[in-house]
Amino acid sequence: MISSDPPGISFSNHSSTKRYLPLAGYADKLSARPGDSVAVKVSSLLEEPYHASLVQVRYADPNPEGPGVQTEEIRVDWEGSFPSREQKFYPGSYGRVDSAGSLSKLASFTVLITLWPTLPGSSEQTLISHQHAASGWRLFLNKQGCLTVELGNGEHVKSFSLDGPLRERKWYQAWVGFDSETSGLTLGKSILDPAFNREDLCQSSKDFVFKNVSNEAPLMIGACYGDPVHSHFNGKLEAPTIFSRALNEEEVRACFEGKLSDGLAAHWDFSKEVPTSRILDNGPENLEGRLINCPARGMTGSSWEGKEMCWRHAPEDYRAIHFHEDDIYDFGWETDFHFQISQELKTGIYAIKLECGEHQDFVPLFVLPPKGSRKADLCVLVSTFTYTIYGNHARPDFNDSWRERIRDWGAYPYNPADFRTYGLSTYNFHSDGSGICFASHLRPLMNLRPGYLTFGEGNGSGLRHYQADSHLYAWLEAKGLDFDLITDQELHEEGVDSIKDYKALCTGSHPEYHTPQTLNALQNYRDQGGNLIYLGGNGFYWKIALSPENPSLLEIRRGESGIRAWAAEPGEYYHAFNGSYGGLWRRNGRPPQMLAGVGFSAQGKFEGSYYRRTEESRNPELGWMFQGLEDEEILGDFGFSGGGAAGFELDRADIRLGSPENIQIIGRSENHSSSFVLVPEEMLTHITNWPGEEEQQKLIRADLVYFKTPSGGEVFSTGSITFCGSLPWNDFDNNISRLLENVMKRFLR
Ligand SMILES: [Fe+2]
Repeated sequence: MISSDPPGISFSNHSSTKRYLPLAGYADKLSARPGDSVAVKVSSLLEEPYHASLVQVRYADPNPEGPGVQTEEIRVDWEGSFPSREQKFYPGSYGRVDSAGSLSKLASFTVLITLWPTLPGSSEQTLISHQHAASGWRLFLNKQGCLTVELGNGEHVKSFSLDGPLRERKWYQAWVGFDSETSGLTLGKSILDPAFNREDLCQSSKDFVFKNVSNEAPLMIGACYGDPVHSHFNGKLEAPTIFSRALNEEEVRACFEGKLSDGLAAHWDFSKEVPTSRILDNGPENLEGRLINCPARGMTGSSWEGKEMCWRHAPEDYRAIHFHEDDIYDFGWETDFHFQISQELKTGIYAIKLECGEHQDFVPLFVLPPKGSRKADLCVLVSTFTYTIYGNHARPDFNDSWRERIRDWGAYPYNPADFRTYGLSTYNFHSDGSGICFASHLRPLMNLRPGYLTFGEGNGSGLRHYQADSHLYAWLEAKGLDFDLITDQELHEEGVDSIKDYKALCTGSHPEYHTPQTLNALQNYRDQGGNLIYLGGNGFYWKIALSPENPSLLEIRRGESGIRAWAAEPGEYYHAFNGSYGGLWRRNGRPPQMLAGVGFSAQGKFEGSYYRRTEESRNPELGWMFQGLEDEEILGDFGFSGGGAAGFELDRADIRLGSPENIQIIGRSENHSSSFVLVPEEMLTHITNWPGEEEQQKLIRADLVYFKTPSGGEVFSTGSITFCGSLPWNDFDNNISRLLENVMKRFLR
């Protein structure tokens, strides 16, 4: 079904080789309702036209021990051939001021900026520049990490550097002044850490001739203008300021202390408009600029000392923006074609299939019923926020043996670890070691394709998210249980109204990331008498925020605690997009137990164990749940995810964290390997833990739970991320399948 192509096409770009997907696309939305228009954007490096069509994705697991990836062609009137063309994308964030006003007329000038470099010495990195061809000026760190200025006379560019590379992750003040009357240039740097102030330096040089840029060239912050924009800065920049004359050193020092001299031309204040891409100028000409590729805002600045932790409360301490050479979220490609979702198209899991010769791509699309209408009694929540947050996750353990399995199984052939320029996930780091805190689906996301393997070794298929959830969809089909879909996007926008009429709502394997709106919608649904089925582990865990300008952009601050891919810096726990406190929902007063009865307790390798039924489960009142399973003691010691229904990420009930008092624990997992550990928020000291459990090992478990809500609703939670992988086992005939079928039938009655 999916060919095992040799990955990618390589292009030599300067000294490094970059690899590109030969045929890849994305749509402007992950989900749509009948009548909605979908715009598809494609980059094809192939010569022939590509063919586009629609398929329904029946099964996304390539494991040869199952049926393999199954797609079904759907006839649509828009299918056909489209010309191949390359669409480019340019990683690296920066600020750009397009109308630079009088800045292009300056003869003499002084530029001041405060910086916190994170990768000095790795490459040439521009702090601020107004340069085009051999005209204008640029202040930058040279390849050795030394502060350098370039001045152009229209024909040549002459540079001047200060000795000594800048230190990593230290705040500096840097300035350059040019006096056209004396042709003299002064360049200075001053470190704000007194332990190193012997390295401060201010030197002058003569005989510089300066010709300013033409009116059209933009002023650039954190990069150099050109085609493409280049020399991106890594680190924080603060308060770039320009004067229309040469300041003396005393005036420069006063200016850094906030006393601005005469001749101010521009003074950008990054503490304003933090949720947006606007950068405001407090100077006389209001030279407003905009940020490209979403650098991080609401970042602690040079004056931050921990007195305030939120950027809204002390804007003067949050005047910094963190730029990265590899920031890239929304690719901004042009649309190749549009199509409208027809009224007849059934709700389901679809993909726009792109094909050219041996190359293919599958752009995911979830089709929902028309707004306000319901075609089934069951609604399945597709965790598109979580999918996007994990988008292009390059795992550090990706290796050759995984590649072998990908080839052997004919799995989706590409892995983000090989295509890092496409922008990695919020589970990865930027090249400067800071955590990636933004994500968007407006780019090709390799792990959101049928047949993608998250893990290339171990027991079972090694699937997560999109592909793992197809185990559930296939099971629902096999059992003849009709279902509608809703995604996080509609849940966020439309709230409980989008789901309130369903008899039951069921999650996939990992509904981890939520806004207050999505969590409220689910809580309200449950509290209004809805029946909730949580089929995952580590759900309802992290809080995220959506950009007010571009709702496809998601933000995560991994603050304080939790199992984390990286740790947000102190003082940077509040989202830039809406000023709310980020991190774990548990730290925001809403542990997952309050909704689903269970919450994250332990994690280990991608391995699954089983549940053992409890005495409580023998209560005759629960007889309906175990019909046909009366004699079964062990549940789920098999499966396509890690080899067992209880594994990898485990949730447990805890009344102190919000599990209801009437919760019934019907099964407990056991026999987890030594790789499983208690999550950090549950640890207090090396010997004590938050729940006060003397035998810590007892907390390493998934609880299978059931409870009734005061409004007459019912909740069933599995507390395990690998649960759904057991559903298709033995051709959908097994005790996990039977158990869930019993629950579904009751909840949908
Ligand atoms: Fe997760």
